[in-house]
Amino acid sequence: MADAVTVLDIGSRWIKAGWAYNQPTDGEPRILAPSAVYVDPSGPGADPGVSTSSAPGELQHPIRRGRIVSWDQFESLAYYVLYELMGWELGNEGNIMICEPVLTGRSDRETMAQLMFEVFNVTGIFCQDQAVLSLYAVGRTNGLVVDLGHDKIDVATVAEGMLIPSSVRRLDFGGANLTQYLQRLLQDPQRAQPQPDGAGGLHPTQPLSDDDAEALKALCARCAETRAGFTSAVESAAAETFRLPDGQEFTVAAEGLRVGEALFQPYELLGVRGPNIAEAACDSAACLHDALLRKVMFENMLVVGGGSVIPGVTQRFLSEARSLVPAAANAALTPIPEYMPSPNVTRDAAWVGGSVLAKVALLQNHFIVKAEYDEAGPGAVHRRCA
Ligand SMILES: Nc1ncnc2c1ncn2[C@@H]1O[C@H](COP(=O)(O)OP(=O)(O)OP(=O)(O)O)[C@@H](O)[C@H]1O
Ligand SMILES: [Mg+2]
Repeated sequence: MADAVTVLDIGSRWIKAGWAYNQPTDGEPRILAPSAVYVDPSGPGADPGVSTSSAPGELQHPIRRGRIVSWDQFESLAYYVLYELMGWELGNEGNIMICEPVLTGRSDRETMAQLMFEVFNVTGIFCQDQAVLSLYAVGRTNGLVVDLGHDKIDVATVAEGMLIPSSVRRLDFGGANLTQYLQRLLQDPQRAQPQPDGAGGLHPTQPLSDDDAEALKALCARCAETRAGFTSAVESAAAETFRLPDGQEFTVAAEGLRVGEALFQPYELLGVRGPNIAEAACDSAACLHDALLRKVMFENMLVVGGGSVIPGVTQRFLSEARSLVPAAANAALTPIPEYMPSPNVTRDAAWVGGSVLAKVALLQNHFIVKAEYDEAGPGAVHRRCA
């Protein structure tokens, strides 16, 4: 195991884990574990939240908006993911590559190094920013990354494999807000009325559980090509029935379009003040002083994260971005290389990039090893992790 590298992407909704690729064609992360633990108020322990119904206690989320807010709970979760799901053996742990959320502070990185060396007994650790890694996943070191996450959206530019911190824009909403929005839409009493096309009322009109709403969202969310197209598509939307993996069926009409549109009209539809995703991206690139660099960013925009799989989202993003920047800037999306095996390469881009980088970083002795940690303490982790 000394040469093995486990790649860990720490997300607010999912912990993604798997072995670093031996070949870039090896596939996607092996493990997707919910970033939640059950905490029994009467006891000290925390159990990873694999099931939402049977485990006792309260469901807690140790990662919020890209930050670990409870290190104790995170430790329980990481233990479960690494030893139980990944099959780590005590005393033979190997190396770990951490795909760090954008804006992770130095002290949080040090705490992670301390946890990994002192509790998990790893051989070595390497950390890299998720925006940088997302570009690596598509074979790039320059570009503008829009990460549509669970409880936040991060926008950042990357030049020569280095994040430009002044360009980072964080929007305080994400997939979780879209799920809640769908839940609210489904409770509209008007849904029970017969439809204009003569069909019966839509189902359900009762509150949907978070898990069911998320599953339904994954099936029905989509984006119109333009704002005007959204308005007309809503008016003509026909009822459609979707079957969840557990067999439940739900009939929706324009709700899926509204959910996708919320990324482009967050104030109007979600009540969240601030820019939409295209405005945030253009603002992020526009703050760069170097005109050539700005042009490179506009020409290489990459939409990643769970929300990137919503049908139509990247094309709509591009058309909104084009309307915001001069035509000469030639706004364009970074193409996804055909050789990438995973159909979910944009969804899992940070993990995929981490697995691409991990083997190279190990060969080049970039991992911080235990001897360096013992000599210099947790601060050693900044030596080669930019
Ligand atoms: N097919 C889909 N359609 C719409 N939304 C989806 C789909 N698949 C996943 N999502 C949403 O993407 C979000 C999870 O995205 P992702 O895995 O990028 O988050 P994360 O990395 O755990 O969180 P974060 O980056 O915010 O810390 C969830 O809110 C989920 O509902
Ligand atoms: Mg993420």
